[in-house]
This record gives sequence, structure tokens and C-alpha cells, in this order.
Amino acid sequence: MKVILIAAITLDGHIARRSDEAITWSKDLKLFKKQTMGYPVIMGSNTEKTLAVELKGREKIVIHRNDNAKEILGELDAEKCFIIGGGMTYTKFAPFLTHMYLTPHPIVFGKGIQLFPNLKEEISLKFIRKVTVDKADGIFQFQYKVIR
Ligand SMILES: NC(=O)c1ccc[n+]([C@@H]2O[C@H](COP(=O)([O-])OP(=O)(O)OC[C@H]3O[C@@H](n4cnc5c(N)ncnc54)[C@H](OP(=O)(O)O)[C@@H]3O)[C@@H](O)[C@H]2O)c1
Repeated sequence: MKVILIAAITLDGHIARRSDEAITWSKDLKLFKKQTMGYPVIMGSNTEKTLAVELKGREKIVIHRNDNAKEILGELDAEKCFIIGGGMTYTKFAPFLTHMYLTPHPIVFGKGIQLFPNLKEEISLKFIRKVTVDKADGIFQFQYKVIR
């Protein structure tokens, strides 16, 4: 099963200013919907509280601190699933990621929630492709395969 991290990030690697921030600055919601439709989406409890998008048509799995990432993934029967955030959840699932879909946005927060807070091991990536989100604003989604 493909385990795909999907995130909108700032140019300094943040995904939110605070853990209770609803993400209104992301320009890739249409693409997010298209790519995740029909597949399980896994999120942390903070993200669930801040969700600004409809997740109709997708199995929604909310995880908590005592949940085990390997077990959660082992229970799924799907060709792929998406890890949709936030930072603590991206870090929890980092050892199991097969792909990362990142959309850098032209903003810098300077502080806030990092894509991977407290990541233990480096991740090596191979570029696959770039998908246009908003050409005029220079916003593209970069897709990578995780190399292990
Ligand atoms: N830019 C993007 O693409 C994007 C995508 C998704 C989310 N976000 C943003 O990310 C932010 C949320 O991220 P987040 O990292 O705060 O939360 P999160 O990953 O959504 O949820 C927190 C997770 O960590 C657990 N947790 C909380 N405190 C913990 C602790 N002390 N030790 C271990 N586990 C703990 C929670 O479990 P419990 O339920 O047991 O507390 C929950 O599973 C929001 O602002 C959201 O809008 C941005």
C-alpha cells in the first residue's frame, strides 16, 4: 500500500502557525480533494478540530497519542492512503511513508508547527513529478518517492 504524506508548507518548512490554526492560506485544496477522493485519510486530533475542508467520500481516521502507526496502517485494505497532518502525525507515520506530496507556498512564518517536529531519522527522496496548482502565483505540488 502506498502511504502518501500530503501537505501545504511554507518556504521555511512550516505547516501552521499554531496547532489550532485552520489552514486558510493553502491554495491546493482542489488538488487535495481530487487526489485523496476515495482513499483513507489519516489525521491527528488537532487537525480534525481545525479542518476547513469537506472530507466526503473518504474514510476518515483520527489518531491519538497512544495509537500505533504500523497497526493503524495494517488494518487498512486500500491501494493507497494519505497522511494529511498535522506535524505530530506526519512524524508518527514518517517511518512508513512511501511518498510525499508537498506544495510550498510563498510565505515564511519564522516559527510555528514544522512539517516534522522531532523527527528521529532523515528521509531520502527521489523526485517523481511536479503538478501545477497556480502557475501565476508560482505554486506547484512536488511529488517524491521515499527511498529506503
Ligand atoms: N499545512 C497543511 O497541509 C496542514 C495539514 C494538516 C494540518 N495542518 C495544521 O497542523 C496543525 C495541527 O498539527 P499538530 O502537530 O499540532 O497536531 P496533529 O498531528 O493534528 O494532532 C496531534 C496528535 O499528536 C498527539 N499528541 C498530542 N500531544 C502529544 C504528546 N505530548 N505526545 C505525544 N503525542 C501527542 C495527539 O493525540 P491526542 O488526541 O491523544 O492528544 C494527536 O494524535 C493544525 O494547525 C492544522 O491546521 C496543516
